[in-house]
Amino acid sequence: MAGRPSAPRPPVTPDLKTAADLMPVLPMTAEVKDGRLWIGGVDMVELAHEAGTALYVMDEATIRHQLQEYVRWTTYHWRDVDVVFAGKAFMSLAMCRIVAEEGCCLDVSSGGELAFARRAGVPMERIYVHGNNKTPLELTECLDAGVGRIVVDSFEEMDRLSALAAERSVTQKVLIRVTPGVEADTHDFIMTGAEDSKFGFGRNQGLAMQAVERAIALPGIDFDGLHMHIGSQIFALRSFAKAIEVIVEFIAEIKERTGVEVHMLDTGGGLGIAYGLPDEPSTIKDYGKVVVDGIKEECVKHGLTVPAMAVEPGRSIVANAGVTLYTVGSIKEIPGIRTYVAVDGGMSDNIRTSLYDAHYEALIANKADQPREMVRTVAGKHCESGDIVVNDAPLQRVDVGDVLCVCATGAYCQSMSSNYNKQVRPGVVFVRDGEWRFVVRRETYEDLLHNEVG
Ligand code: LLP
Repeated sequence: MAGRPSAPRPPVTPDLKTAADLMPVLPMTAEVKDGRLWIGGVDMVELAHEAGTALYVMDEATIRHQLQEYVRWTTYHWRDVDVVFAGKAFMSLAMCRIVAEEGCCLDVSSGGELAFARRAGVPMERIYVHGNNKTPLELTECLDAGVGRIVVDSFEEMDRLSALAAERSVTQKVLIRVTPGVEADTHDFIMTGAEDSKFGFGRNQGLAMQAVERAIALPGIDFDGLHMHIGSQIFALRSFAKAIEVIVEFIAEIKERTGVEVHMLDTGGGLGIAYGLPDEPSTIKDYGKVVVDGIKEECVKHGLTVPAMAVEPGRSIVANAGVTLYTVGSIKEIPGIRTYVAVDGGMSDNIRTSLYDAHYEALIANKADQPREMVRTVAGKHCESGDIVVNDAPLQRVDVGDVLCVCATGAYCQSMSSNYNKQVRPGVVFVRDGEWRFVVRRETYEDLLHNEVG
C-alpha cells in the first residue's frame, strides 16, 4: 500500500537549523566538518564533485545497524524470528549481500528481484516470495530456485503452484496472506469491515479459512502459516498489536476447525521512520516487544503453541541510511510567490513527493554549518510542473553550483525511479569508514538505447 504523508507539518518558515539539528533524519555516521556534511567518513561535497550528481549515497553502517537492531530486539523475545528485508524498498547486489551477511532473509516480489537475490548468492531457503499476481513463469522460477517460502495471495495462484510443484515432485512451503481487517494509519489504526484490498484473503465470507483448508489439502504444497501486512510508515505500535489480536484469533479458529497448528506467523513490515524533524517514530526495540511479545501473549491466551515468526521491514532499514545529492543549476524567483531552486534530478529519481505528497528535509552540503535562513522549493528538471523534490524547504542561502542534499531518501526512491524524459538514473554509492564505492553505476545513454530495436 502507498506510504502515507508523515506527521502534519507546521507552517514553513526559515527555521535557522543547521545540519547538526538534522541528525534525526540523517545516517548515523553523519557529521559536520569544515562547514560541510560528511557521511561514513566521506565529504559529501567532494564526493558530489568526484562521482557526479544526481547521486544516491547510502551509509553501510546505518544499514547494518538497523538490520542488527531488528535481529536483536525480535530474537530477544523469541528464539525463532526471521528478519526479512523487503527488497522493494531498495535492492542491489550489494544490498542483498549485506542482508545475507547479517543473517537476515529477503522478501522478493517479482522474478526480477529473485534474479538479483540469486546473482548475489543469497541462500534460497532465506527467500520469501510476495506479489498478488505471480506469473506461472515466476512461480516456476521460484520452484526451480528452491525458495524458502511463497506467500500465496489468490486461489488461482495456489492451484497453479500446487500443479507446478506436483509436476516436479517437490513440496513448497507456503504462507497464506490474510487481510486482517485492520488498516494502519500513521498515528492509529482503523478496522475495515469491507476488507477492500487487492492483497490476500479477507476473513469475511470465510475466504481466508477456505484458503487455509485448500492449502492443507492440495498436493505439492506444505501449509506453513500465515502472513499479513497492514501498511507502511506506521507510527502507532497499537496498530500492530490490534492486527496481531485478530490474526492469532484466526490461528485458534484454524486449529479448532482443522486440527492443524500454524507453524509460522509473518506480520509483514511497516514501521515508520523520521522524514521530517517533527516525526517521532517508534523504536525497533519497542516494535520488537509489541510484535513478538504480543504474538506470544495472544497465543498463550488461546492455548496455542507459539509459532516461528517473521517480520519484513523495508523502509526502516534503508530510508535514513540514504541521501540524494544534487547540484543546483538555476534559481528562479517569482516575486511575492516563491523561489524555485532547480536541481539536476527530480521525479525520475524521487517520485514520492509528487505521488504521495511526501516531505523531506534538505540542506546545502557545502554550507552545512550555516542556518537555514530561507524557504525554497526544490524543483526537478523534468517537463512537468508537478516535478518537485521538496516543497517549501527551509534551506541555507542557495547559490548556483551548491551541492543540495535531500535526507532520508534511502527507501522507495531508487527502487521507484524511472527514465522519464530519457533521464539517466543516478548511480548508488555506498560509504563506509572514509571510503566510497559505486554499487550501482550511473546509467549512460547507451544503457537507455540498449533495448531499442532498429
Ligand atoms: N512486506 C510486504 C508484503 C509489503 O508489501 C511491504 C511494503 C513491506 C513488507 C515493507 O514495508 P515497509 O517496512 O517498507 O513499510 N512505495 C511506498 C511504500 C509501499 C510499501 C509497499 N509494501 C512509499 O514510497 O512510501
